[in-house]
Amino acid sequence: MKIVVLTGAGISAESGVPTFRDSDGLWEGHNVEDVATPEAYDARPSFVQKFYDERRAFLSKVEPNPAHVALGRLSELLGSDLTLVTQNIDDLHERGGAHDVVHMHGELLSALCRACTGRTPWHKELSDFPPCPRCGVSELRPDVVWFGEIPYEMGRIQAALMRADLFVSVGTSGAVYPAAGFVQMAKACGAKTLELNLVPSDGTAFFDEARHGLAGELVPAWVDEVIA
Ligand code: APR
Repeated sequence: MKIVVLTGAGISAESGVPTFRDSDGLWEGHNVEDVATPEAYDARPSFVQKFYDERRAFLSKVEPNPAHVALGRLSELLGSDLTLVTQNIDDLHERGGAHDVVHMHGELLSALCRACTGRTPWHKELSDFPPCPRCGVSELRPDVVWFGEIPYEMGRIQAALMRADLFVSVGTSGAVYPAAGFVQMAKACGAKTLELNLVPSDGTAFFDEARHGLAGELVPAWVDEVIA
């Protein structure tokens, strides 16, 4: 069975990573336009770098939760029959044991050079504007996809959705496209669809089945069903 799993901020909530649109979410305390657009970076690069430096440093304080670990187990068992696509920029899927995770919105632990377009694994700060290890120019920015930019690996994701038998969405509000449209694409191509989320998402009506509760409980239970 070929499965595509899409995850969002809700899967990392029980690890202590803030979501975006919940009452205590990141977008409650920050304006998207101030920190998550190319225009914001052009206007205030140090401010934007510091915002992502803090979030990068915060990763060392959080651990994968049972939902990440369950998907790691599924990844180990299914290999290339599982395509795990995340909108998250944390590394909790990898630390939970998942292989070949598609980070469609980029990664905190990567730097993107605006001069040579190279992507380099990055664990330190960027607000001191270090030189790119590839080309030497000091034009490294967070390797995250901002509003108005094109997500990574859309071709690979689309191909996986087209051949999927099952599409599962975990911990995402269904508010941001193109990810919010994956359920309809998968369904149109013949996949069964399942939502696992704390509350009904914006797209909950598009799913064949929806289960509502904590990802740390719902995801391990679902993985147990798949591998039984
Ligand atoms: N278990 C399951 N779901 C949860 C949990 C939990 N413990 N906690 C919260 N949720 C759900 C919320 O109910 C909400 O529906 O996770 C969802 C999180 O939604 P958002 O905060 O909108 O996050 P996400 O869907 O990942 O946002 C998409 O928006 O700003 C951009 O680039 C950012 O990748 C992000 C994109």
